Amino acid sequence: MSSAKERLIVALDFHDFADAQNMVRTLGDTVVYYKVGMELFYAVGQKAVQYLKDAGKKVFLDLKIHDIPNTAAGAVTSLANLGVDMMNVHAGGGFTMMKRATETLKEVAGKMGVPCPKLIAVTVLTGINQNEWEELGQTGNIKGQILRLAKLAQKAGLDGVVASPQEAAILRENCGAEFLIVTPGIRPTGSDKGDQSRIATPEMAIGSGASHIVVGRPIIRAADPKAAAEDILRQMEVSL
Ligand code: C5P
Repeated sequence: MSSAKERLIVALDFHDFADAQNMVRTLGDTVVYYKVGMELFYAVGQKAVQYLKDAGKKVFLDLKIHDIPNTAAGAVTSLANLGVDMMNVHAGGGFTMMKRATETLKEVAGKMGVPCPKLIAVTVLTGINQNEWEELGQTGNIKGQILRLAKLAQKAGLDGVVASPQEAAILRENCGAEFLIVTPGIRPTGSDKGDQSRIATPEMAIGSGASHIVVGRPIIRAADPKAAAEDILRQMEVSL
């Protein structure tokens, strides 16, 4: 597997482009992989991705597409030409939607002669706890549902899933060594939990089989973001 640096994805959760640019400059060579999510993309659009690509960074475009198969396929087609490395759909959109999205992405990338972005599926958001899960009318446990959705995503031909670090081990065991397991909900020891529920430390996440960890606030809201990122890389290395 690749180095800690290639496996740390920093969430650029800003709505101001200048703030995002400053963060990328501050983190410098310490961080090579960034996540552009709804906050930044809805505020500034494609130029956020272009800025990162021009800076030689890798990009995970986290727009969590969730719609009927035809619309989801249209969405990935529109995003394919941005040159991102990874994007995602909600597994809750169903098998047919996931299959159409991944087939469309391969077809479009093939026609454009560019490497196909990895397509992963969001299972259950890491902010959802057992109480909220039951409020949604779900009777089974969260872990069982995550495993079911991950297997469905794998059957549909997707490259991996987004899941909480607490489910990484069971997913790694059931979905094989190559399956991407991208885990947000990372909190270094002693840091604020924020609105995340199913959390773990960087060391635990990597040790449980996560291929990548996504970290937002513990880095971008730190007094010294570069030092925070370096510290997280060190914690990841313990498990490599
Ligand atoms: O600030 P924090 O480290 O909690 O940021 C986590 C990032 O990962 C956020 O951008 C959030 O949208 C994203 N995310 C998540 N849970 C998922 C999918 C994405 O927290 N299941």
